[in-house]
Amino acid sequence: MKFRFALAVVASAILAAAGVASAQQPIVIKFSHVVALDTPKGKGAEYFKKLAEERTKGRVKVEVYPNSSLFKDGEEMEALQLGSVQMLAPSLAKFGPLGVREFEVFDLPYIFDNTAELHKVTEGAVGKSLFKKLESKGIVGLAYWDNAFKVMSANKPIRVPADYKGLKMRIQSSKVLGDEMKALGAIPQVMAFSEVYQALQTGVVDGTENPPSNFYTQKMQEVQKYLALTDHGYLGYAVIVNKKFWDGLPADIRTALEGAMKDATKFANDISKKENDDAIEAVRKSGKTEIITLTPEQKAAMKKALVVVHKENESRVGKDIIAEVYKETDFKP
Ligand code: LMR
Repeated sequence: MKFRFALAVVASAILAAAGVASAQQPIVIKFSHVVALDTPKGKGAEYFKKLAEERTKGRVKVEVYPNSSLFKDGEEMEALQLGSVQMLAPSLAKFGPLGVREFEVFDLPYIFDNTAELHKVTEGAVGKSLFKKLESKGIVGLAYWDNAFKVMSANKPIRVPADYKGLKMRIQSSKVLGDEMKALGAIPQVMAFSEVYQALQTGVVDGTENPPSNFYTQKMQEVQKYLALTDHGYLGYAVIVNKKFWDGLPADIRTALEGAMKDATKFANDISKKENDDAIEAVRKSGKTEIITLTPEQKAAMKKALVVVHKENESRVGKDIIAEVYKETDFKP
């Protein structure tokens, strides 16, 4: 018996040594995110995986974990800092708890009229300075990915600010978004994305805001009767990596991954508009949720109620950074 055991130990040691000699272990990048595969971010992550693995000829393996299957909001940043996961793409509204509140500039209502203005900011000095702030947190910012402008939803028609009074609205972990809901007379409730469907279903919250692609792929049409095309704010992402991991990569691998990220970014940004337009049509076709298009007067009333949030958050987000963004946009305070 003893002899057989010793033989097995020796045999497995020989096999393990042969394995190491014959195939170098790939570098594994765990890429965790909270949305469905069938979204701009979900597809962008898959495309990055494909390019990264092809271009490094298998020396890198990217494991994508969608739908909060590895980590949820509120867990994933810490997991990244600890190195339990190497790559994330949180929404820009989720950097406050990390202590980098300046990212909440993207949450200011109506600050961007369109994605061209937004790109001037993400691709310019502000985008770079925000990524710089991540470094002291042990994080490197690689790219900004688009989703879309947000819609509001609830189980009652929501057209003007008065319609929001007293509604419990789920938000991401951003103080700016909390102030936005308060400015409408609603009650903001911070909650992980993975919990939103059930919270809407059980009435823990009455409504929420999100881009149409997230609304549709999380099946929120099953639990929300009205969706208002408010376009009141933008939702996009920062693709980020653990700095120690990134800096420790062989230079040729890092260069290949940078190229893959550049191309995946273009891909994700190119598909985001169509994905969101298609999602609105799919919600309409479901026949479960009424899509509300606001009149110009209703839009103006929403804007008037919400722009106060800019001033309220000057000290939190930074007066200078807000001024920098205004320079790139048509927004007049
Ligand atoms: C949310 O939590 O509402 C969204 O930011 C989820 C996402 O990553 O798009």
